[in-house]
Amino acid sequence: MKLKACIKSIGAYLPKNIVYNQDFETFLDTSDEWITRRTGIKQRFKADKDEQTSDLAYKAALVAIKRAKINIDDIDMIIVATLSPDYFAMPSTATLVAHKLGLKVSAFDISAACSGFIYMLELAKSLVESASKKNVLIIGAEKISSVLDYNDRSTCVLFGDGAAACVISAGYENEILDVQTATDGEYAKLLFTNRPKYSKDCTPISLKMQGNDVFKVAVNTLANEVKHILSKNNLSKDDITHFIPHQANLRIINYVKEKLELKDEQCCVCVDKYGNTSAASIPIAINELYESKKLKKGDLMLFDAFGGGFTWGSALAYFDGE
Ligand code: UT7
Repeated sequence: MKLKACIKSIGAYLPKNIVYNQDFETFLDTSDEWITRRTGIKQRFKADKDEQTSDLAYKAALVAIKRAKINIDDIDMIIVATLSPDYFAMPSTATLVAHKLGLKVSAFDISAACSGFIYMLELAKSLVESASKKNVLIIGAEKISSVLDYNDRSTCVLFGDGAAACVISAGYENEILDVQTATDGEYAKLLFTNRPKYSKDCTPISLKMQGNDVFKVAVNTLANEVKHILSKNNLSKDDITHFIPHQANLRIINYVKEKLELKDEQCCVCVDKYGNTSAASIPIAINELYESKKLKKGDLMLFDAFGGGFTWGSALAYFDGE
């Protein structure tokens, strides 16, 4: 029988500090009303100064490994998707996570912005199915607060810190059915991180976004993307147990949900609680379903994501965790 790659577990870690919309009102020309109406976000988590992306990733990884009922030594590859690594360029955040776990296995980061989780799924699926690797640990992790400009109301209210991990292992049922990924670099300048030559507040890098332009491309791309992956796999909307979209904006989620005519109970929404956690957003949402006991072994999940690049993607996967 052909080896299949399965999502064996999910685990997340959120830093302890919560930033509410009202907190921004004290230093920015913004309001809880605006943020809630335009995005659906009510709060987000923020890491401490001395808490790095690899710390968040490591803590999420420990939960995922425990829930997969394997030993740390059974992990033979670690992939981290992040746009806010501990170090820019090198060493990779995955290397630091491997060290914290006491492992010397292959470990590397991927750069696909908010679509990072889907890209990791695609890689892990092919490595496990080809029997190159047995247990791949994939982690979406962001200390995105470290690349935000807190004078820019159009971006800083949107994002949150956090990490979530999955163990992808070989199995014979409940597989990752299909993954689609794509890019269009023509839009690079609509969402990117710059490195100003000089910055008064010493922020080395900050995220810039033409939000409204990103919004327009995102909604249309995602609606087409999810329709395509469903028809390619001869599935209908009724086959989906959980639609788990990237959590950037409630209005984007609702647009795709309406295009697919999905029911409320099929649609996982937690942007209100976490904000946009970029590469961590989909696995944090999976964890939210898991911890609220709504996610069961054999449930079919549909993921979609869109982010800087532009990058985007979708995936269909059964949950194979306990
Ligand atoms: O995860 C990666 C992909 N990212 C996304 O998918 C994000 C996509 N974009 C969005 O979610 C939305 O475009 C935003 C939430 C970023 C912005 O919402 P919008 O409805 O597109 O607003 P806008 O950018 O068109 O701005 C409308 C107004 C502007 O004022 P004027 O020019 O109309 O006077 C902004 O200056 O809202 C203003 N504004 C704010 N007002 C209060 C922008 N940010 C804020 C703010 N508080 N925080």
